[in-house]
Amino acid sequence: MSNKKYGFAIIGGGVIGQTHADRLLSVEKGKLAVICDRTEAKAKSIAEKYESDWSTDYDAVLAREDVDIVNICLPSGMHAQYAIAAAKAGKHVITEKPIDISAENALAMINACREAGVKLGVISQHRLQDSTQQVKKDIESGKLGKLIIGTGAINWYRSQDYYDSGSWRGTWAFDGGGALMNQGVHTVDVLQYLMGPVESVHAHCETLGHDRIEVEDAAVATLRFKNGAIGTIVATTCAYPGLSTRVEIFGQDGSAVIESDTLVYRKIKAEEENEQSTAIAIKHPTVSTAADPTAIEAEGHIKQMNDMIEAIEHNREPIINGEEGYKPLEIILAIYESARTGKTITLGNKSCFSTSR
Ligand SMILES: NC(=O)c1ccc[n+]([C@@H]2O[C@H](COP(=O)([O-])OP(=O)(O)OC[C@H]3O[C@@H](n4cnc5c(N)ncnc54)[C@H](O)[C@@H]3O)[C@@H](O)[C@H]2O)c1
Repeated sequence: MSNKKYGFAIIGGGVIGQTHADRLLSVEKGKLAVICDRTEAKAKSIAEKYESDWSTDYDAVLAREDVDIVNICLPSGMHAQYAIAAAKAGKHVITEKPIDISAENALAMINACREAGVKLGVISQHRLQDSTQQVKKDIESGKLGKLIIGTGAINWYRSQDYYDSGSWRGTWAFDGGGALMNQGVHTVDVLQYLMGPVESVHAHCETLGHDRIEVEDAAVATLRFKNGAIGTIVATTCAYPGLSTRVEIFGQDGSAVIESDTLVYRKIKAEEENEQSTAIAIKHPTVSTAADPTAIEAEGHIKQMNDMIEAIEHNREPIINGEEGYKPLEIILAIYESARTGKTITLGNKSCFSTSR
């Protein structure tokens, strides 16, 4: 194993860009080489705080030899464009969620990274929580039995001030959606990670609680999974003052409920005699983005940055690679298409997503 320190470039010094800079301090083999933002003052102040270089020129960042990994922390509709440029420059890419907001762009980004021989990782930190991993293990070992129902709910709150805080927020062009595409993508990802691929969706999406946004702030969808199970997704940014996320998995032989990353309930028939499966609580995160978009839990981003370095060193795929990052995007786009057309949408055919809204 080499002692190399990997140089990171963070592109976008907003809410999540600052989080990346902070989490990088805990990545033993990583260092922030340069922070890039179109606003000089933002780039400078982060560079000062984290003792790195700064830039407003993305091409110049990509030309630097001390940059191995580019972290894309830009508005969601810009992810693919910046990732493709990084791949062409031979840099590995970590992009924030969602992978992008269009299926075509996301697939182009995956292909560009493959063609350039660079790694692509997509941040989806809630997948890596102990609670999610415990339920995944219970499903894969067969303890929960045949899966019957899986539900995901995101009952969060975002004020109009939040949407007004960035001109891209709440727009189709750059946010790509609302309660689902921005806030809910994490829960959609955890639900599909646990339940398996979604076959079809039927949905309603509305803008009910905000005046100046284009995208949905309330969404409900019914799902049919490929394994025959059924489920629901409910997502809103109108649940004052910001409640929880909740994923419920009901199998023929057991049940598990994760609330805001904590495994609040786990009961497995086969374990009842020795009481191992009494409702247990795994990990209580101390922060939540239910009401405060900046209160991001620390561990997940650190794990994914370390994972990228290991993926490079062992020439393997990152744990959440481009194809994995594409899965929740495909589900969300299908939900939007169903809400728009009133039809049930079958996944797996990207031409089913309309380009206009
Ligand atoms: N994983 C998570 O929990 C999490 C949390 C928050 C945000 N995000 C994601 O991170 C991304 C950014 O969200 P945010 O809340 O940090 O947004 P933000 O508006 O706070 O920050 C975006 C930054 O990008 C900069 N920028 C815009 N265009 C640029 C360009 N062409 N070149 C350089 N800089 C440019 C802006 O000046 C701003 O500083 C979104 O995709 C969002 O979905 C993820």
